[in-house]
Amino acid sequence: MKIGILGTGEVGQHLAKGFLGLGHEVMIGSREAGGEKLDKALAAAGQGAGGTFADAAAFGDMVALCCLGAVIESVLKLAGAENLAGKVLIDATNPLDFSKGFPPRLLDLPDGSAGQLTQRLAPRARVVKAFNTAGSHTYVKPSYAGGPPDMFICGDDEGAKEQVTALLVDFGWKTIDLGPLESARYTEPMCMVWVQFGLRTQSWSHAFKLLRK
Ligand SMILES: NC(=O)c1ccc[n+]([C@@H]2O[C@H](COP(=O)([O-])OP(=O)(O)OC[C@H]3O[C@@H](n4cnc5c(N)ncnc54)[C@H](OP(=O)(O)O)[C@@H]3O)[C@@H](O)[C@H]2O)c1
Repeated sequence: MKIGILGTGEVGQHLAKGFLGLGHEVMIGSREAGGEKLDKALAAAGQGAGGTFADAAAFGDMVALCCLGAVIESVLKLAGAENLAGKVLIDATNPLDFSKGFPPRLLDLPDGSAGQLTQRLAPRARVVKAFNTAGSHTYVKPSYAGGPPDMFICGDDEGAKEQVTALLVDFGWKTIDLGPLESARYTEPMCMVWVQFGLRTQSWSHAFKLLRK
């Protein structure tokens, strides 16, 4: 499959590396084709192609949104809603405000969540919230004594969630489907639980697991 990655940060890099390792084709998108950040992301991913956000969105049969939460509107405008129509759009973002430094605070988005904002801006995309409740360096083949960790996903398109679940299983995760995309209101704040635990323990490789009987 061809996968477009909208973002040159750590999430984009680790997703690109993971998808390439599974034999998919990848294009990473950035504001500037041929810029320094794109070169760095491609080097970290190992291979793959680079282009603008619009190039990557048009390239992908599936697209992953992994930009700073505060600039989702700008990135999706640059990507072009028409380039995302009908495609599974993985939303890995968290609506974080870093303006007062670290730790960040959650942005209070009028749409309710970054996932819902993404769906409004790309109305014909099949948005699935995923990958936002884990550190990106643990995305590929996570190895924990307690077994595979859980990735919480949600979205309004059942077929899209099935496709994302299959990818997550290939990456080495179990998935927990929390239903409609509106549940992103609850999975996005989970990133702050992850950050707070990291700050208190000064360790950054933890992951969530839901225990059931
Ligand atoms: N880091 C993690 O482990 C982790 C884990 C789970 C979820 N997340 C979430 O995933 C998302 C990506 O995180 P990240 O750390 O990989 O990268 P990031 O630094 O949050 O975002 C990098 C991307 O944002 C774009 N960007 C920044 N400012 C912009 C602006 N003013 N206009 C347009 N685009 C702009 C950059 O474009 P250029 O390429 O043009 O510079 C780049 O592609 C975030 O929402 C984050 O909260 C992060």
